[in-house]
Amino acid sequence: MSIPWWFSDVQALGTFDASTATMGALWHVSERLRFVRENVSAADLSEDAAHPATTSTWQRFVEQERAVRHALVEATDEEAALVRSKSRAPADFRAHWEGLGFEPHAVGGGTPADDFLDALFRTSRLVFDGPAAPLATVNLASRARRVSDFLGVTAPAHDDVVFDLGSGHGKVALTVAASADTRVEGVELVAGHVAEAEASALALGLDSARFHQADVRDVDLSKGSIFYLYFPFHGAVASAVATTLGALASQKDITVYASGPAWDYGEFFLREVERGALRLVGRRGEHDEVMVLVSERR
Ligand SMILES: C[S@@+](CC[C@H](N)C(=O)[O-])C[C@H]1O[C@@H](n2cnc3c(N)ncnc32)[C@H](O)[C@@H]1O
Repeated sequence: MSIPWWFSDVQALGTFDASTATMGALWHVSERLRFVRENVSAADLSEDAAHPATTSTWQRFVEQERAVRHALVEATDEEAALVRSKSRAPADFRAHWEGLGFEPHAVGGGTPADDFLDALFRTSRLVFDGPAAPLATVNLASRARRVSDFLGVTAPAHDDVVFDLGSGHGKVALTVAASADTRVEGVELVAGHVAEAEASALALGLDSARFHQADVRDVDLSKGSIFYLYFPFHGAVASAVATTLGALASQKDITVYASGPAWDYGEFFLREVERGALRLVGRRGEHDEVMVLVSERR
């Protein structure tokens, strides 16, 4: 009989020392353990039991799972207490996660900066929304590198109101609220995502972040000065939102940081540029997929 596929993964993860690891490292390993757990069925295990050493290695896996889960809860509680008590002021918080770096891990995906933020906000991994949310696209959270770029480009300040349109589980909105002295509003169609984001904001004492469960087309965006969009919608919804932002840009100074494909999405923002409402001041991202637009009247 051949060696089970999970054997080498579990052996490698078994050498990880949960007692000395940082919150981010614990998150990264917990995601890898979760992958194994979700992909090894009871049937596999009973078949694999024929292989010598399988049973003891699996036992070690179960112990490691427990140790990592326990250490992660403790580390996350500690970090949350620092944010809640304002011991990590916004600038320090931002410097901390940005300083961890955006270099992807060789195994298991993610980056140290993402691990830190995802652990703190308990950002669920990719979730395919069910039929209850027919308009919603897949909820895929922005990467930390992108959020860092957004903060650098838009520099949200005390009198700004940052909208994350299609805020998902709140990773961007919560990161901005914890990293800058500014107000943040998340708008999200899926009630479960909003509940998760609100729970994180409450646990971290981030009073400057608010979340609204709504279709973005039904929300008054007029108090916003900075808008973040990570390909949240396309077609008619994207067209309607671009029209709303174009109309707002004719009345006040706003900045729009929108990433997504040109077709059926970006084209609607460029239509507002042609209309003379918005000005395209830059393209960013590996594939120029981010458009930075400001009010033409500026
Ligand atoms: C790609 S995720 C982005 C999440 C978050 N902004 C981030 O960057 O991490 C897009 C989100 O937009 C939400 N969405 C889609 N259509 C929407 C609509 N009409 N109104 C509000 N939210 C919507 C989806 O449910 C999904 O959670």
